[in-house]
Amino acid sequence: MKAIAAFFLLCALIFAFGPDQIAADMDLSANTTDLIERACNRSIHKDFCVNTLKSHSKSKDADLSGLASIAVTLAYQNATNILDELHSLGNNDTSAEPSIQQGVEECKDYYLDAAEQLENSLSALSQKAYHDMNTWLKVAVTDADSCEAAFQGQKSKMSHKNRLFRMLANNALTVVKVLVENQ
Ligand SMILES: *[C@@H]1O[C@H](CO)[C@@H](O)[C@H](O)[C@H]1NC(C)=O
Ligand SMILES: *[C@@H]1O[C@H](CO)[C@@H](O)[C@H](O)[C@H]1NC(C)=O
Ligand SMILES: *[C@@H]1O[C@H](CO)[C@@H](O)[C@H](O)[C@H]1NC(C)=O
Ligand SMILES: *[C@@H]1O[C@H](CO)[C@@H](O)[C@H](O)[C@H]1NC(C)=O
Repeated sequence: MKAIAAFFLLCALIFAFGPDQIAADMDLSANTTDLIERACNRSIHKDFCVNTLKSHSKSKDADLSGLASIAVTLAYQNATNILDELHSLGNNDTSAEPSIQQGVEECKDYYLDAAEQLENSLSALSQKAYHDMNTWLKVAVTDADSCEAAFQGQKSKMSHKNRLFRMLANNALTVVKVLVENQ
């Protein structure tokens, strides 16, 4: 039954669009998915990498360099959002323990730095300065670790955010690796 239904659907589609159009659309979608899979192939969080890239509206038409740009941008946006949250956390939580307040203050510096590294990485990408990107993205990853360490082993509101940001920055790093391998 299913096969017959599929056959009729296919006939209807061919009738509506013509075989060339359909072939082109199929190729395109196969390519996009392949390319995102390839871009994320070196990520240790492959599913997360694929899902975050796919969720971006521009990833459909992107080449590898475009996907790298998206990966960096996603991490950058995350860093600036986290910075905003850190600012309100610092302003709201004046009653928090001094060690927590201290942690929040330190994290602001780390995420400010991370946002800067990611911004620089984006300009480096447009100049194909992949080695610089590699260096700066690694610093951004380390910034998340430093923020986590700033709370001296205490669980904080930052732990979960640090982990997600670290994954985003790390994904960007691995997409750039694939980009370099394929140039
Ligand atoms: C990918 O797209 C190109 C044209 O854009 C086409 O030549 C190629 O066959 C496609 N590859 C796959 C696996 O669909
Ligand atoms: C991912 O990498 C493995 C080995 O490094 C390779 O065999 C495989 O074809 C790659 N997959 C994609 C989608 O590029
Ligand atoms: C950072 O990105 C992750 C993964 O996409 C998301 O779940 C999280 O809400 C983001 N955090 C902020 C503060 O935007
Ligand atoms: C800080 O306080 C404002 C206003 O009361 C609130 O909207 C915001 O969610 C708070 N931020 C945090 C991180 O608790």
